[in-house]
Amino acid sequence: MPRALIAPSILTADFGRLAEQARAAEAGGADLWHLDVMDGHFVPPISFGREVIAAVRAASTLFIEAHLMVAKPAEQFADMAAAGAQRLVFHYEAVRDLDAAREHIAAARALGCEAGIAINPETPAEALFPLLATLDEVVVMLIRPGWGGQQMQPALLDKVRTLRARAEASGLALTIEVDGGVKSHNASMCVDAGATILVAGSAVFNDEQTPEQALVALRASLGG
Ligand code: DX5
Ligand code: ZN
Repeated sequence: MPRALIAPSILTADFGRLAEQARAAEAGGADLWHLDVMDGHFVPPISFGREVIAAVRAASTLFIEAHLMVAKPAEQFADMAAAGAQRLVFHYEAVRDLDAAREHIAAARALGCEAGIAINPETPAEALFPLLATLDEVVVMLIRPGWGGQQMQPALLDKVRTLRARAEASGLALTIEVDGGVKSHNASMCVDAGATILVAGSAVFNDEQTPEQALVALRASLGG
């Protein structure tokens, strides 16, 4: 059993060679894809949508989660699922209350997908406590969402510790993913805090290493 799964994000990949880069990451031992959809409203940039998800789906057999940084996530669910996403992650800040969050979870499941919720740096971990038993994954942002290549804010790992402790106290094997600034020098710290999936964008797709080399180094930093 690996200590944690590694989920590459293609935000800083070379989109002109997307299929090749995706295959390289898969060859390097990526466990699943974390694909960042941004709408220019929930976050300032626009990244990509269903066409790019479908392109990754065509190039790789790995599990795909779509991280929806969009203001109206439910409106995108059907397109994301049709393009090949198997887990739909929406932001708590986009739906704003527990009832709406529950409706979104049900909508994702109705499409045959898993459901995850992400929280921004300003949202406390406790906001998700009532939902933990019904979620397939919680995503703790360790940066302000919108851009790859930012530095992790390690203080935000306290939220991972809080969620892990709450899950254990409730007898839940919760999947906790951390997103933002994960690199070889801090990956182990994330796992020690309780994360089970590490998103890795610029750590995998950068100018210094091939995706294979980068993934091998990241895995080695976790002790295999
Ligand atoms: C940012 C995205 C992240 C990001 C990860 O809004 O949600 O997934 O692309 O990239 P790095 O690992 O470079 O922070
Ligand atoms: Zn993301």
